[in-house]
Amino acid sequence: MVIASAPGKIILLGEHAVVFGQPAVALAIDLRLRCRVAPSKAHTLNGAPLSERSHPYIFSALQQAWKGAGLSVETSSMLPSGSGMGSSAAVTVAFLATLAQASGQELQQRTLANQAFEVESQVQGRASPIDTSASTHGEGIFVSGRGGEELLWHIQRDTREWFIHHCDVPRLSIVVGFTGINAPTGPLVAKVKRYTDHTTFARDIIEEIGQVTMEGMKCLKANDLSGLGALMTRDHKLLAILGVSHPRLDKLVQASLPYSYGAKLTGAGGGGSMIALTDHPEMVAEAIKRKGGVPFLVKTGVPGVRIDEP
Ligand code: MEV
Repeated sequence: MVIASAPGKIILLGEHAVVFGQPAVALAIDLRLRCRVAPSKAHTLNGAPLSERSHPYIFSALQQAWKGAGLSVETSSMLPSGSGMGSSAAVTVAFLATLAQASGQELQQRTLANQAFEVESQVQGRASPIDTSASTHGEGIFVSGRGGEELLWHIQRDTREWFIHHCDVPRLSIVVGFTGINAPTGPLVAKVKRYTDHTTFARDIIEEIGQVTMEGMKCLKANDLSGLGALMTRDHKLLAILGVSHPRLDKLVQASLPYSYGAKLTGAGGGGSMIALTDHPEMVAEAIKRKGGVPFLVKTGVPGVRIDEP
């Protein structure tokens, strides 16, 4: 029997634009997914026979990384699925870690991050490695189109490439507000691709998000929370122009702003979750609840994938 766990994530700045090679910043959060595997006659997930349709991430990971006999897989998660907090990436990364351990391989973050991105791309279609790399490395990551200081690994797909860096992040107080709407990432990423294929305006917005992220990196380094918050709110407006917000996300962002440095949707949007950077987490949580959202007071600076029981 092997148990591994991996964290969920929030994207502080740069979602969607990162798919096009623009920079982005993601932080692992203290909501983890745990995965336990044990030998079994046939492959099962949480007691049910494994099927590609119902369990695409586990199915694809098995195809890619397991040559052995049947496995009983059990998962338990603090992350609501489709919430924009990276539950698909966390299940993929944690499961691949159990497979590596069960095969007697050394757990290498770089290998896991590459495999997990492969699985996510296969299941989801177009994607960037931000979710899978954040869940693998933990802490904070900065993704960009060229390598720099604190480079962790490099991932390539067709003509696009991403350089994943460790990113030191000051202690931030962040509240996540889940809309309760389960929004799959693939169709939203495809929608943005169609928009950018047809208009230079959308391509300009993608570039502007990249610039906002670079300014945000300067604020992070200077611990300038007011500057960072203002950039997050601007990023939300740009994402809304791209068509990936949702009236409920806008409502939760508006409700949080009076008590926050800034707020924005996080992840793919279309539902899912928003985040607020604040010194008043309880007040923001109340405001989110009043508007029908589900608040999570999350901690950042948490470890990435790990084997909990070898
Ligand atoms: C989803 O968490 C982040 C997106 O940028 C998609 C991706 O990067 O694969 C929307």
